Amino acid sequence: MNDISSLAASTLQDRTVVIFGGTSGIGLASAIQAKAAGAKVIVVGFNPEGAERVATENGFNGWRAADVTKPETIAQALADIPHVDHLVLLAGTFVAGKVLDAEVEYLKRAFDERIWAAVHTLRTLGERLASDGSVTFISGALADRPSAQGTAVLAAASAAMEAFARGLALELAPIRVNTLSPGTTDTPLLSRTLGTHRDAYVAALTEKLPQRRLGTAEEAGAAVVFLMSNGFMNGETLHIDGGARLV
Ligand SMILES: NC(=O)c1ccc[n+]([C@@H]2O[C@H](COP(=O)([O-])OP(=O)(O)OC[C@H]3O[C@@H](n4cnc5c(N)ncnc54)[C@H](OP(=O)(O)O)[C@@H]3O)[C@@H](O)[C@H]2O)c1
Repeated sequence: MNDISSLAASTLQDRTVVIFGGTSGIGLASAIQAKAAGAKVIVVGFNPEGAERVATENGFNGWRAADVTKPETIAQALADIPHVDHLVLLAGTFVAGKVLDAEVEYLKRAFDERIWAAVHTLRTLGERLASDGSVTFISGALADRPSAQGTAVLAAASAAMEAFARGLALELAPIRVNTLSPGTTDTPLLSRTLGTHRDAYVAALTEKLPQRRLGTAEEAGAAVVFLMSNGFMNGETLHIDGGARLV
């Protein structure tokens, strides 16, 4: 075992980790690695059947279903969880639409899934979140490098998560609050968002990237586990994008 994984194992052993978005992609990879480090992992997904299946297949300690844009479902999902050591909020979709064209109600979803979901989740947990624990948010390389393809609102919501984490690191102290900012990562989200255009999009993108490939969910998941287990990471945005912001 190397130094980082032994640190994760000593920090996360028997700690309760709740991961919203833990049923797929980056969240699932984070859940698997947190479990491997000894944590008791509860995953929260949108789809109840999928959440149950994933939790059973991976031997997680539990699963819940919620729609993070509906506060009452967050409250229901967390109602019987007495104590949370590490909270990870990764649930979300790729909200894309041009500011002058898209429905405003749809564009608002970028903030509902991120900022307002985090506000409701933290208020719901209140004192149940351990004072020596952590909160990890997700943003994305878009926060620094938006595109002209209708991502301005999602970029704004992503950047807002980073600022929100810095503010909360003070407001919730000594609870640590960080954000992971991944570049394009190979998860089910890509196919769901791009459909038949996925392969062409990935080929054009990877040609430009320094490492000529997308990130993997496992790489991003390892970064989430690092943020939750390293007790001196606080108020930080950790970029994991293979150098995408340099090109
Ligand atoms: N992949 C990338 O390139 C990339 C880059 C930057 C940032 N991100 C962000 O990283 C996060 C995870 O992305 P991913 O690529 O791992 O996606 P993914 O594989 O599609 O996983 C998304 C997760 O979020 C859950 N979810 C979605 N909408 C929800 C809702 N309204 N309420 C509750 N749960 C909900 C899904 O549950 P179900 O499985 O039940 O639907 C699933 O567990 C997203 O917020 C995404 O915007 C991704």
